[in-house]
Amino acid sequence: MSQRKILVTSALPYANGPLHMGHLVEYIQTDIWVRFQKLFGNQCTYVCADDAHGTAISLHAEKQGITPEESVARINIERVRDFGEFYVEFDNYHSTHSQENRKLSEAIYLALKEKGHIVSRNIVQAYDPEKKMFLADRYIKGDCPKCGAHDQYGDNCEACGATYSPADLKNARSAISGAAPVEKESEHFFFKLSDFDAFLKQWTRSGTLSNEIANKLAEWLDVGLQDWDISRDAPYFGFEIPGEPGKYFYVWLDAPIGYMAAFENLCQRRDDLSFDEYWNKDSQCEVHHFIGKDIVNFHCLFWPAMLHGANYRTPTRVNVHGYLTVNGEKMSKSRGTFITARTFLEHLDPEYLRYYYAAKLSSRIDDLDLNTDDFIQRVNSDLVGKVVNIASRNAGFIKKRFDGKLSANNIAPELTTEFQEAASRIADCYEGREFGKAMREIMALADKANAWIDEVKPWVVAKEEGKDQELHDICSTGINLFRLLMIYLKPVLPAMAVKAEAFLNVTPLNWQDSQALLLDHSVNKFEPLMTRVEADKVAAMIEASKEVLAQMESSNKNEGNSPTSSGEWLEKDPIADEVAFDDFAKVDLRIAKIVNAELVEGAGKLLRLTLDIGEAEPRNVFAGIKSAYAPEALVGKHTVMVANLAPRKMKFGVSEGMVLAAGPGGKDLWILEPHEGAQPGMRVM
Ligand code: MSP
Ligand code: ZN
Repeated sequence: MSQRKILVTSALPYANGPLHMGHLVEYIQTDIWVRFQKLFGNQCTYVCADDAHGTAISLHAEKQGITPEESVARINIERVRDFGEFYVEFDNYHSTHSQENRKLSEAIYLALKEKGHIVSRNIVQAYDPEKKMFLADRYIKGDCPKCGAHDQYGDNCEACGATYSPADLKNARSAISGAAPVEKESEHFFFKLSDFDAFLKQWTRSGTLSNEIANKLAEWLDVGLQDWDISRDAPYFGFEIPGEPGKYFYVWLDAPIGYMAAFENLCQRRDDLSFDEYWNKDSQCEVHHFIGKDIVNFHCLFWPAMLHGANYRTPTRVNVHGYLTVNGEKMSKSRGTFITARTFLEHLDPEYLRYYYAAKLSSRIDDLDLNTDDFIQRVNSDLVGKVVNIASRNAGFIKKRFDGKLSANNIAPELTTEFQEAASRIADCYEGREFGKAMREIMALADKANAWIDEVKPWVVAKEEGKDQELHDICSTGINLFRLLMIYLKPVLPAMAVKAEAFLNVTPLNWQDSQALLLDHSVNKFEPLMTRVEADKVAAMIEASKEVLAQMESSNKNEGNSPTSSGEWLEKDPIADEVAFDDFAKVDLRIAKIVNAELVEGAGKLLRLTLDIGEAEPRNVFAGIKSAYAPEALVGKHTVMVANLAPRKMKFGVSEGMVLAAGPGGKDLWILEPHEGAQPGMRVM
């Protein structure tokens, strides 16, 4: 068998927030594949990096009052620790904001330019005159053109569900400074993707992608490829384009080049790896990317075209996975199912998650559901109930009765052969990313091992006179069956494998070790390999996630540019035009009692308030104050409402009024509360 040389990457996570359960679908999946390749004897190198550039990252840094470099460095520390504790083992974890990446990005851009694949033209975009920067759609907010709801971002309304172009927003504001955006023209650089039409039609069908993905791409290829805007104007956190002062590479240009840069950086430290051998046009090495389905166009159109155009090799394969749902729905902050890697680690064993994801992964792009009940049940029944059980049922006798030594006889040759023959089938599953199928194969073997033990009953044999040899052979064979299962599970459960190797008293197991048995060999004392998942720990993790996210949300929303003195509030929002008393009197303000307050399923900002103003039926009012108030904290309090506002139909129901509040937003939002003694229904004048 010749050794394959394989370079593997996972998508480079943005350096602007914590790792969460969704990210881990990808990094755990890739790590399992890499560990399998290494176990199998291939030369496999796994690199990744922080994706450090772009507006989201510089804004995140600005909110904390630090430089982007400093913010990226802080996030990197948490990130590396999270990955390590989940046993995601990179050969190198680098950064796109690195010398290697700058050099490669410039070189690739210049090569593309020299061949005529780069063009420039002027475009008109929204511009924030205060912040002096162009605004991407998601940084523009305003009132919904359809229902008038305030503070709607980008191109859809959370209140009524309407979709529109950000240019249609009424009273549009920059989400960054609050200034009204203006239109401004500037020169942009474009990569002429259409030059690669024929190449991409061939590449996408050459075994690099599953048919599922190739078919999707064919739809885009058939309508014709558009030029890709690869430049952004200053201020921008990224690399300046050579020869174009004030113009920067768009983050998605240098991000995939970051894969090469991370490898290049590793090559400087490793004599056995050569950058050129892996990346030259005729390379015999393999390059495998693992990505989520949301970034297919970048990896399967722009990226191969860039590489091809700049005379590098293209990826051997792009492996695409689906999105994570938790309990059947998108991860949700209010339900506590937006779980960060750290919160998981604070409550549960990371190998539970590695196994659960492995059991659910396939080579397709279907979404993958983390169902908390199923998670508990599956891990407990498969790992603890089936696999660990085989070892613990036999280890005791070996220790007590046979001085820790395995017998020289295999008493169930048919069964052990069946286990050994499964090795190549399971290897194929790993290779083809059919991890769920691999886990089912392994658990079917574990069932057979347990059924065999139930049949030969070592605990009965142990009590019978003169059956020492039989007991010794049974328990030794049982331990061998466990050992084979552990080899097959090692890519998924690296920590458990280390404990099993310590018990078995063997050097690190590799895949080919499955073809031999451990006979006439001393083992060590058996230590528990894994404990059961406890339901209350899972519940505690969900509770903790609600808190973590409430904190993140409020600190994110506080944009960091609020006035610090009363005068500044006026400056930012001057007093409105004078009105006559009669005009004011048209607004009927009433004291209201908040009889109930609750979260609104699917609404990021809203609370549903039930307000009593002394009418037969209490009013239903939606208020955008979720970021500042826990619903329980409001119940029973008095406040002031606009009682004669026309009812407004929202996605979640009809809002029959409005409560009054002040503050810039986020956690800094305060509703009004009358002095003690005011009664519900009283008019406020
Ligand atoms: N920075 C880009 C990737 C650049 S690669 C040259 C990016 N970063 S990300 O942090 O948003 O996502 C990193 C990876 O995690 C992506 O492959 C993405 O698909 C994956 N996932 C992020 N959330 C996910 C889920 N909820 N479920 C599954 N995968 C998810 O995209
Ligand atoms: Zn609307």
